[in-house]
Amino acid sequence: MNSGFTFVPLRFLAQAMTLDPGHHHVLHPAAPQAGHIEWLYWITFWILFAVFVLMIVAFASAAAKSGVIADHPLPILEKDEEGDRRASWGVASAVGITVITLFLILVLSVVTGKRVEGLTSKNPVTIQITGHQWWWEISYPNSQADQTITTANEIHVPINTPVVVLTNSMDVIHSFWAPSITGKRDLLPGYSSAFWFEIDKAGIYHGQCAEFCGLQHAHMGFSIVAEPVDQFQAWQQQQLKPAREPSSTDAARGREVFLTHACLMCHTIRGTDAGSRFGPDLTHVASRNMIAAETLPNTAGALAGWIVDPQRIKPGTEMSPNPLAADDLQALVVYLQSLH
Ligand code: CUA
Repeated sequence: MNSGFTFVPLRFLAQAMTLDPGHHHVLHPAAPQAGHIEWLYWITFWILFAVFVLMIVAFASAAAKSGVIADHPLPILEKDEEGDRRASWGVASAVGITVITLFLILVLSVVTGKRVEGLTSKNPVTIQITGHQWWWEISYPNSQADQTITTANEIHVPINTPVVVLTNSMDVIHSFWAPSITGKRDLLPGYSSAFWFEIDKAGIYHGQCAEFCGLQHAHMGFSIVAEPVDQFQAWQQQQLKPAREPSSTDAARGREVFLTHACLMCHTIRGTDAGSRFGPDLTHVASRNMIAAETLPNTAGALAGWIVDPQRIKPGTEMSPNPLAADDLQALVVYLQSLH
């Protein structure tokens, strides 16, 4: 950050050029949809660049001419019909060119919109994404209830496979945006909509809520893990299993702590008595890379800090503080970290 690029546009450009694949960026598309959007971006960029250069040239030549006139402080005012006609033509052509350019950009936008929307398939992977203040509920619906996967903030998809995303929101308007994958999509409370995407390259792509939704809007991130089909299927099989039985006395005690404290009021761990859907499903919480909607890494220390005082990390979050005894907290963290 401190590498001398204090001028923001330059730093932005430098980041655009150097980001690793997998990091999120509109100029690093990893999906055909994002590729179409990038194409529109560059076309618009070069059109506007040409307009900018022409404006500067026109300005400079006008300034140069007015400099010549300034040498004669009292120009002779006489009717110059030829000059007036040329000026009218100049203004009329400038207006015409402007209208044509704007119309061209409009057509290109519509074409890009059609191309982004154009993906369909008879056999897509279907994902239901529900926005909450401030996290993402992710489920893979199935007609058999016990074959439905529910997770949070980390979306797994197979590469080269069309994915249809069904959206909804539990509270306010959120917007799903993974810049390397596709454009923004609003999640509206009480209104279900759908969009499609498909990812070419395996990797982890970050995304972010892009509609201001309250105090922790900036900490409402998610990630998309795009992986080969066999890895995706292995992940699915793993997620379908109920939670692991504790394999140590610490973990067993941790489960007891979970089931006798406020945790079970909000969270589900399938295979135990905890079945509330208010907060994220924790059945396989240890399989996720991050916690608290991509705010913290999924490590023992971060998990413990989050459980004890989430209001300190994300003020306003629905999760209340849990002042547990040190050994209870440690056992709880051991248990949660065993839930792969
Ligand atoms: Cu959700 Cu901003």
